[in-house]
Amino acid sequence: MCLSKDEMKLYKEQGYLFVPALFSEAEVEIMKEQLPTVFAEASPRRILEKQGNMVRSVYGLHRTNEVFKRLSQHPRLVDAAMQLLDSDVYIYQFKVNAKAALGGDVWEWHQDFIFWQKEDAMLTPRVINAAVLLDDMTEFNGPIFLIPGSHAEGVIDMSARHANGNGNGNGNGNGHSMPSWINDLTADLKYSLSKEVIENLVRTRGIVAPKGPAGSVLFFDANIVHASPSNLSPFDRAVAFVTYNSVENIPAEVEKPRPDFLVDRQVIPIVPLADDALFM
Ligand code: SIN
Ligand code: MN
Repeated sequence: MCLSKDEMKLYKEQGYLFVPALFSEAEVEIMKEQLPTVFAEASPRRILEKQGNMVRSVYGLHRTNEVFKRLSQHPRLVDAAMQLLDSDVYIYQFKVNAKAALGGDVWEWHQDFIFWQKEDAMLTPRVINAAVLLDDMTEFNGPIFLIPGSHAEGVIDMSARHANGNGNGNGNGNGHSMPSWINDLTADLKYSLSKEVIENLVRTRGIVAPKGPAGSVLFFDANIVHASPSNLSPFDRAVAFVTYNSVENIPAEVEKPRPDFLVDRQVIPIVPLADDALFM
């Protein structure tokens, strides 16, 4: 997909671009068929919700699942990412967030880049998320909230953040001793933003929650402030997130690297597949 000048401008100004129905119903069906198997596989790549044993996220599927590998190399995502980042790109992270009906939990207000900067030594926010809706996203099933233009704030000062602790007692059913990175992934987010920061930002910049059919794609900046509420509806809200990093923004080495399903350190510039890539 080639973005128009207006779309590029909108993305740069607002920090996000919502493209309704970028993937067809048939393509969504192919991706959704994978979910029962993907969610059923117990592995460290699978994160459960704080309460109960519902799946919250599964990471690293661009390495382990052929359909999601093809999605991550799909020209409708990769061409847009290359255009917006003005360079070749590689996959930094891939996850599916389940946000299951009647139980999918919140994502607190946060920016993504600070996690990658603090935890993985990423240098600059020259990185982009493509969120591919695998279910219709409505006002009821935990849509993604964004504060338009908030990416322009840069990394918001740490003193404005909650002291959330280190994930003790989060009850995540992934095992008894929790690795330190677990609070980058659960409903008790490590670098969540304070009420005061959100109040001030929303007062001046407003708030949006893009809605649309399954197959729509939300491209968003690594510094845009975003969140999502819990899913109290009886409708699932699965989303596949592909994070593309510029090949000119490779993180430095760190003493304790997070697992490779959270940070792919294999820098392989993506050569986009053909447009019918999902129909294998
Ligand atoms: C995220 O911020 O990474 C996920 C948000 C969501 O799935 O609603
Ligand atoms: Mn995020």
